[in-house]
Order: sequence, then C-alpha cells, then structure tokens
Amino acid sequence: MAERSAPVGVMDSGVGGLSVLAEIQRLLPDESLLYVADCGHVPYGEKSPDYIRQRCRAIAAFFRAQGAKAMVLACNTATVAAVADLRELYPDWPLVGMEPAVKPAAAATRSGVVGVLATTGTLQSAKFAALLDRFANDVRVVTQPCPGLVERIEAGDLSSAQLRQLLQGYVQPLLAAGCDTLILGCTHYPFLRPLLADMVPADVAVIDTGAAVARQLQRLLDARGLLAEGPAREAAFWSSADPQALSAVLPVLWHRQHPVQGLPL
Ligand code: DGL
Repeated sequence: MAERSAPVGVMDSGVGGLSVLAEIQRLLPDESLLYVADCGHVPYGEKSPDYIRQRCRAIAAFFRAQGAKAMVLACNTATVAAVADLRELYPDWPLVGMEPAVKPAAAATRSGVVGVLATTGTLQSAKFAALLDRFANDVRVVTQPCPGLVERIEAGDLSSAQLRQLLQGYVQPLLAAGCDTLILGCTHYPFLRPLLADMVPADVAVIDTGAAVARQLQRLLDARGLLAEGPAREAAFWSSADPQALSAVLPVLWHRQHPVQGLPL
C-alpha cells in the first residue's frame, strides 16, 4: 500500500515534461516529485511506438523501484504509444497520460478551424484519430508536425533566429487556414509561448493541457487517499544522457539550478 508521502514520478523524452512538472508543483506543492528526462533517446516523435513502449516500461519500473505512488507521462507521444500498455502492466497504479486539447479547442473555436502542433508520432497515431472522431466532428482540424523544434528546446534555445524561422514555417500555414485556436500538442512547445506571442494575433487562443494533467493527478490521488500532506522533498532529476547537459539547461527551463543524476537505463 503506497503512502501519502511517497513521490510522484513524472517522465518525458526530455525537457518538455518540465512544463507539466511546473503545473503539478503549482497545484500540488506538497507532493514530492521525481523527474526522468529520457534525453538519451529524444526525440520520441520520430521513433516507433514499440521503441517508445520499451523506454516507458523501463522508466515505469525505475519509478516503482523509487517507491513512486503514481506516474505521469508528461509527453503526448509517449502517451499514445505506451499508456495502454502500462495500465495493463500496473492496473492498480495511478497513471496519468496526456493528449492534445482537441475537446476544449473544438468548444472554444469561433472560426470553426483549429490547428494542432504536435510530433509526427502523435499525429499519426490511432489514438489521435480517435480523439478527432470523438470531439472534432463539427470543426475543421489542421495538423502540423514540427520536426526540429524539440531538439532546439532540448538545447535550451527558446529564442534564436533559426528557431523563430522554423516555428514561423509551422504556424503560418495554420493561421492562413483560418485557425483561431492553436493546440500545443507536445509538452516541449509551451516553452515557445513567448515566441508564439510575437507571431500569432492576440485573438488566436494558444492552449495546452499541462494544467489539466495536474488536476487529473490531483483527482486520482485524492480518490485513493494519497494526496500528500507535505512538506514536499526537493524534486529529484535524472537524465538518460549526460546529466551535466540537463543540469545546464535547468536554469533556463526550470528557473533554478538543480543537481541531475544519470539514469541507469
Ligand atoms: N514532449 C513530447 C510530447 O509531448 C515529445 C517530444 C519528442 O520527443 O519528440 O509529445
């Protein structure tokens, strides 16, 4: 039986999940958090679902060995590839996945055209097709895979001219198609909000699901009597690539210095 004070494991292919970790920490400041960045295997967006499933299995086993009471897949691409598999493996372990915000976007759009920026893996998945079938019958959805963005964000680049040009090339066709709502369907992309604010008109809504994931974690923990009562321990970080590299970008993406350990996987 897990204890309230046990940590929550949060993972992503790299640094993207830090955008979700921030929302979790904001909503649930008493929770002790473990973060795994699978930087040795990023980007997931261009990898096969099988490959991603194996990585997620290994990381889930690592979190369980650390005593985690729950796991958050802070990655849309990992969720489409692996969440069903992990739920089958660990039916009693609270597990939160994430998906692009198609439902709220379909409800919010006034132009009837919604744009989705996400990885190739997410956009090509059956799970994403099912999401559109379920929630987007009355709107037009224009999808845009964004190769190259994740690698720049991994390097801590949130503002270079090359990044701006790459992003502009992905966003412009969505605006030209009449989208008034843009979904950030990859957890790396919320880090680009300041850049997006410069290229997207003020009446275009830009939405992501980080805060919704934090609320879902809260619901799952509460339903099992597992919400922590604090105080939280310092968040712990692991990377499957060079820990120094993650450590070097944390001040940019997490706004503080933090030691990072090597993930033994
Ligand atoms: N951050 C991930 C997502 O939400 C994937 C990025 C990648 O590794 O391609 O989809």
